[in-house]
Formats: sequence, C-alpha cells, structure tokens
Amino acid sequence: MKTIFSGIQPSGTLTIGNYLGAIRQFVQLQNEHDCYFCIVDNHAITVPQDPATLQHNIRSLAAIYLASGINPEKSTLFIQSEVSAHTQLSWMLQSISYMGELERMTQFKDKSSGKEGVSSALFTYPALMAADILLYQTNIVPVGDDQTQHLELTRNLAQRFNNRYKETFAVPEIRVPEVGARIMSLQEPQKKMSKSDENEKGFISMLDSPKKIEKKIKSAVTDSEGIVKFDKENKPGISNLLTIYASCTGDSIESLEEKYKDRGYGEFKGDTAKAVLHLLEPIQDKYEQLINSNELDQILDQGTKKATETANKTLKKAYQAMGLGRK
Ligand code: AQP
Repeated sequence: MKTIFSGIQPSGTLTIGNYLGAIRQFVQLQNEHDCYFCIVDNHAITVPQDPATLQHNIRSLAAIYLASGINPEKSTLFIQSEVSAHTQLSWMLQSISYMGELERMTQFKDKSSGKEGVSSALFTYPALMAADILLYQTNIVPVGDDQTQHLELTRNLAQRFNNRYKETFAVPEIRVPEVGARIMSLQEPQKKMSKSDENEKGFISMLDSPKKIEKKIKSAVTDSEGIVKFDKENKPGISNLLTIYASCTGDSIESLEEKYKDRGYGEFKGDTAKAVLHLLEPIQDKYEQLINSNELDQILDQGTKKATETANKTLKKAYQAMGLGRK
C-alpha cells in the first residue's frame, strides 16, 4: 500500500479538466492506497479572492470530491488551512528553495505575466505545494500534466532536505492519466482549460446545467475542414473535443474518428455534449444532496483530525532535523 496525496484549489467551480485530469484518478486510487485529498485554500489566496466566494468554493469543492466518489471511509478529505503544519513546513522549505528555480516555474510566469501587484505568495507557491505533499510521506501524486514541473521541484526539495539535514521525507512520484491529462479551453484550444478563466465559455464547470454544457460545446472553436480527426497541431479544437469525448466514455480516439468519419461537426459536438452530460448528471445529483448537509462538516472535521495527526509527526521530524526550537 502506498501513500497518495493530491490537492485542488477552491479558486472557482471545478471544470471537467479538473475531473478528468485529477479527481477521477483519485477515486480509483483510494481502493488500494492510503489517500489524502486536500482542498488547498492557502494556494487559492495567492491570487485575489472574494472572502464570501472563497468560503462557498471551499464547501462546494468538498461536496464535489464526495459526489465524484471520494469515500471518507477510505480517504482522508480535509481543508489545507485547517492543518497548520502545511504553512509551517512551507516556510522551512522556502529556506532551502532558490530564487532561480522558483523563477523558472511556468505557472508563476503565466499567472504573473502582464499583471500588477503580483503577490510574493504566488512566487513561493511551489514550496507550499511541496510541503503539502511531503508532510504525508507521500509516494504518489496523481495530477494533470500542468503540475509536472512543480512535482519535479518537490522531489528536488525533498532530496535536498534529506541530504543537507537528515533523511526526513519520502521522495514522491508523479502519476498523470493516459488520456485527459490536459483538457484545453473550448475557446482557445492552445490554452489549458482553467476554472478561473475570465471567459466562461472556455470551460465546462462540473455544475453547469445541461443547456449550458450543450451551448458551450456547440460554440467551441474548431476549424473549417469539417473532418473529425485527431491532429493536435492543426486541429486543436477538434482534438480537444475528441479527448473530452473519449475520456468521458472510455472509447478510443481512433474508434471515434471512425464513427464520425462521414458526419459533420454539428452531430459530433451534439454527441460530445451528451457524453459529458451522462458523466456529470449523477455527480450533480449527489452534489445537491451533500452541499447543505451536516454530514459534509462531519467528514471534514474527521479529515482535519486525521491529517493533523499524520502531518505533525513529519513536521516534528523536520523541526528536529533542521534544529528549530528546543527539542
Ligand atoms: N485542463 C486540465 N486538464 C487536466 N487536468 C487539469 N487540472 C487542472 N486543469 C486541468 C488538474 O486539476 C488538479 C487541480 O488543479 P488546481 O486547482 O490545484 O490548479 P490548476 O492546475 O491551476 O487548475 P485550474 O483549474 O487551472 O485552476 P486555476 O484556474 O485556479 O489556476 C491538478 O491536478 C491539475 O493538474
């Protein structure tokens, strides 16, 4: 049995990209491993958030995790800011992170480029992410492929700490899904689909109504060739829809190319929307039952308790290794 950790930011309502790239793997992994799944609210505040919306998004994300199949009997589900060891270890890891390596992070470059008032927390985000993972002696981190660079840094920090002080952290491996590792925006298919995209038409939220989903997919940017074929470079829009369709149904991309060989984009888009709806409908039904329930709070309380116990053990080891405090 391995230890698994992964987190999602409550920076908006989750997209189908977050589901296909991350959550779906979590649900499979929990059957065989010791899993920690986190609502990383401290990460969300690296860019401005409205407090009331943030609180809503935290609760909503917890309900989406559970509605998607995270089982609290098998997995520990908790909120990052409720386990103080995360920010404590993050500070310690910042002390062994180099400016140069943080400057190379593409997420920082993307999120800061052209912006004024970029927070220093956005810059040190990867050290907090490393702390999240290392606190649980994590062996595997299931994520979408946009997180590969952060994971590489986490591994480097773990090894650096272990070598410089003493063996303290497990060095984690990344796990990226074969299909669905990077779902692209429906409006700008060269860009990753993101829940905080200002253009709402670019993403499918997991809580969008059937009408909205159909509308967004119908207005997805494609090309004028009229052939349903996977070609990321020349047909990024159609390739993205093929990926979404295949990820939702389990069909292979080749079989979908064959199926829509002599059919137009209209029919293909209509069926893609049906595939997405079929996947999301049961999740949305469960979400409605959970969002205002006491059960949700009980699960999160229980998660905080268990996560705190585990995280504090590693934090203590790290304090001792670094020579902080009195013992
Ligand atoms: N488009 C995507 N395709 C596949 N996987 C994705 N993930 C994110 N977008 C896609 C995966 O979802 C998990 C949670 O991501 P996160 O919330 O921690 O941060 P993110 O990667 O920055 O996700 P967003 O949706 O783009 O959030 P914002 O808009 O706030 O920056 C990760 O495993 C990620 O790989």
